[in-house]
Amino acid sequence: MKNATPTWLRHHPDSKNSSAPRRISFGADYNPEQWPRDVWGEDIRLMKQANVDVVSVGIFSWARLQPAQGRWDFDWLDEVMDLLAEAGIGADLATATASPPAWLVTEHPEILPVTEDGVTLSPGGRQHWRPTSPVFREHALNLARTLAERYKDHPALVAWHVNNELGCHNLYDYSDDAAASFREWLVQRYGSVDELNRAWSTDFWSQRYQAFDQILPPRKGTAFPNPTQQLDFKRFSSDALKQHFIAERDVLRAVTPDVPVTTNFMVVGETKGMNFSDWADELDFVANDHYRLPIEHSRDELSFSAATTSSLARGNPWFLMEHSTSAVNWQPINRPKRDGELARDSLAHVAHGADAVCYFQWRQSAGGAEKYHSAMVPHAGEDSRLYRSVVQLGQTLDQLQPLAGTQRAPAQVAVLMDWESWWCSELDSHPTEDLRYRQEVFHWWLALLNEGVRADVVQAHQDFSGYDAVFAPVLHMVPHQLKGRLEDFVLEGGHLVTTYFSGTVDQDDRVWLGGYPGALRDLLGIRVEEFAPLLRDETVTLTDGTLGTLWSEQVDITDSGVEVLRRYVGGELDGSPAVTRRRGGAGTASYVSSRLDSAGRASLLRDLLAGAGVEPEIPQQLRGRIEVTKRVGAQGEYVFVINRTDEPVNLQDFAGHALIGLSAGSRTLASRGVAVFHLQR
Ligand code: GAL
Repeated sequence: MKNATPTWLRHHPDSKNSSAPRRISFGADYNPEQWPRDVWGEDIRLMKQANVDVVSVGIFSWARLQPAQGRWDFDWLDEVMDLLAEAGIGADLATATASPPAWLVTEHPEILPVTEDGVTLSPGGRQHWRPTSPVFREHALNLARTLAERYKDHPALVAWHVNNELGCHNLYDYSDDAAASFREWLVQRYGSVDELNRAWSTDFWSQRYQAFDQILPPRKGTAFPNPTQQLDFKRFSSDALKQHFIAERDVLRAVTPDVPVTTNFMVVGETKGMNFSDWADELDFVANDHYRLPIEHSRDELSFSAATTSSLARGNPWFLMEHSTSAVNWQPINRPKRDGELARDSLAHVAHGADAVCYFQWRQSAGGAEKYHSAMVPHAGEDSRLYRSVVQLGQTLDQLQPLAGTQRAPAQVAVLMDWESWWCSELDSHPTEDLRYRQEVFHWWLALLNEGVRADVVQAHQDFSGYDAVFAPVLHMVPHQLKGRLEDFVLEGGHLVTTYFSGTVDQDDRVWLGGYPGALRDLLGIRVEEFAPLLRDETVTLTDGTLGTLWSEQVDITDSGVEVLRRYVGGELDGSPAVTRRRGGAGTASYVSSRLDSAGRASLLRDLLAGAGVEPEIPQQLRGRIEVTKRVGAQGEYVFVINRTDEPVNLQDFAGHALIGLSAGSRTLASRGVAVFHLQR
């Protein structure tokens, strides 16, 4: 990412007037092509009323913009862009390539993706294209170029929105196009087939290749496909979509070098196929889509996703491209948001660095698959609680103007997120199929939040040396370089905490021999000979009375500097170490050999943080009830306090002038409320 400032604002129609204040942008996906023209004027009136200043236009418009090969229809979009510009609303203009039109699929069915069992997917939904299809690429780039040429000087244009949620429906394609591109990708990675044979351990099960053209994607076969082939196919599939982004971006940059280009990531829940950590620097600004999930800790998962997005943006402001005002339509049962949740969810993203708050979508569709998905203007229309809440949030965001462009204030602690460990730790033919990498990282982050400790998310390739403590659960894949960086971190005074199944394999998914946790064995001063995963109804008990699930191990201590913080009690492992800490250089390296329950994680955290000299930032009586984040800029620090509960909380311990969230003279934050304090420098 080139720009530290929210570039979309610099292009905003209002910023032509240089005195126009920068602000936290507000808006939605806008799909006027679903509505008759007379609704458009009404849309603009309601947008103005709600303080909307940016909308994403044209995301699913290919069939309207190009009704046939060589035929174009821009009249409607010209009119929409003009209406937006007149109203001072910016357009994040989509390249419209997300969903190919019927004529293209009819003429070129070879663009359709193929599943691992050889089924060609049909059109009729969306995103039915192969990321590696040269035919699709040519048509998509032609569309992007045509749009860029037409709208390059349009005053409404503030940013380009490439495609949409790349990989949402077509991440893994096993077609012949994919096979050919996969081979090229492997040639680039390995240079020779011998090197590939080594990396893929192909002497196992007689899988040795004589030539690259014998290699296929891991299509459905008789037994577990080769793990490194699976891993490389994940890497390749993520890369193929990234390359599609880059191809569209470069076409746009050639025509409009000054207009920033983005695409909307999906940092949410178990969406793991796109290695956004590796994509982020290709975007002019990071954008994310987030939806509340029907899971335990759903609100906190939102914050964790936002913190992860902030790390992808390297602490710079980012753009919340989509979330929902209320219910979605794609869960088994779709419940509306409760009072206060619309604003709290949006502001929690701002708390983690979002400088734009946008939804899917502006006006709730009357027809189509998403007609029961909430929007800024619901089916009930303007006279509705939902639209009134939207208008109110637009006013709240106006009060947060001074925050626009401010950075995340770094925390003392970070949890480490590594996409490749995510992919690799969850492959098949492993000690347990129940391990969920992201949940492991999230649960440590949540434990820190509950203890009142602000924690950043840091990507494995980013510099983590500035943190006092780094939590790296299930850091399964540790290549040589990362091994060295972790050792240096501890040597220089950092406190590393890691868990079972960490340090186990190198970048080729080959085991570090000599005992687990392989690459981290010496740093941790321990050695494990065998994994002992637990059955679903099995638990282990630790000396502090808390329970472990999922995993256990016989941990042997190999270094006299290791102290045992918890032991197993009872069962096969009775008396053996469960949690250890080794002093190494100026820092420490701790190891947790089971999946602790939340009480176990909490009590251990207290011990580990005390040892690392990290103090909670949230007063004791509010721990577990609020979340605190900080943004920082030239005008000082902005402290967000998010009420995670359904009860009011007293914020008498917080200093500073409240920009939002508290009424004059009061220090009571409403149930599900958000307050922002300004501390001047
Ligand atoms: C996103 C998508 C939007 C809309 C939304 C519904 O995945 O980008 O177009 O489908 O989900 O929640």
